[in-house]
Amino acid sequence: MIHSRFTRPETSVCRKTLGLAMDQEIQIRVNLRGIIIAVTVLVTVSTIAIIYLTEQNNIAKQNQAEKLQARIHMSTDNGTRYVKISDFIPNSAMIFVYPYTGNATVDTESFHMWILIRLPIHDGGGKDDISSFRAYSAIDIQLWCMIKYQQQHEWLEDPCHGSLYEPLYGIPFAGPAKDYAFKNNALPQLDLGVDNDGYIYAKPPIFVVDKNGVVGSGREVSADLSEKYRAIGESSLQNALK
Ligand code: FES
Repeated sequence: MIHSRFTRPETSVCRKTLGLAMDQEIQIRVNLRGIIIAVTVLVTVSTIAIIYLTEQNNIAKQNQAEKLQARIHMSTDNGTRYVKISDFIPNSAMIFVYPYTGNATVDTESFHMWILIRLPIHDGGGKDDISSFRAYSAIDIQLWCMIKYQQQHEWLEDPCHGSLYEPLYGIPFAGPAKDYAFKNNALPQLDLGVDNDGYIYAKPPIFVVDKNGVVGSGREVSADLSEKYRAIGESSLQNALK
């Protein structure tokens, strides 16, 4: 093939132009790929962040709901309210529902009823901290009657068959409950705390006999404790009968 001398520069310019156009196209493609990668990363990170924040928010809401549910609720004419240490004088008690659900059917089940006691002063109830308090199942461990706190005698009493329990550990010292179910039995108990707002709450219980106990069945305590507080209870009963 014969090339004219005048056509060569033109062809060279075309190639150069073509080369520039290709460079630009490559550049555009590189830029486009970069943009696509950046957008993908941004969308992925944003999605992960939204999922994480939503989950954290749900956990915070759940924690808040559990915290409110664990607080001791006092029944009032207008519904319920939370309670503080200062709401109780030594040697006083009230019935409460645990766990509180706000569902009237569930919250009236006797197995959800507990007794909060502020101990008598001579048992440590004068201290303005949670050590002054005890919370026991309000269901007797024999045949499940509702127990009451007797301020006058400073013990818990089952009105059905006369079982009596001392207030420091919930150990029975009179009546059928004394020898019922298993040795060294006591009332199921909730561990209590005071939250940052000053309200009394129940720590998450473990309902087995050697931890918080089983409602309607009992809680196992050490033989020494059982023996000691049975004797103390029996002596308070004898004093009361004099
Ligand atoms: S139900 Fe309590 S002693 Fe029988």
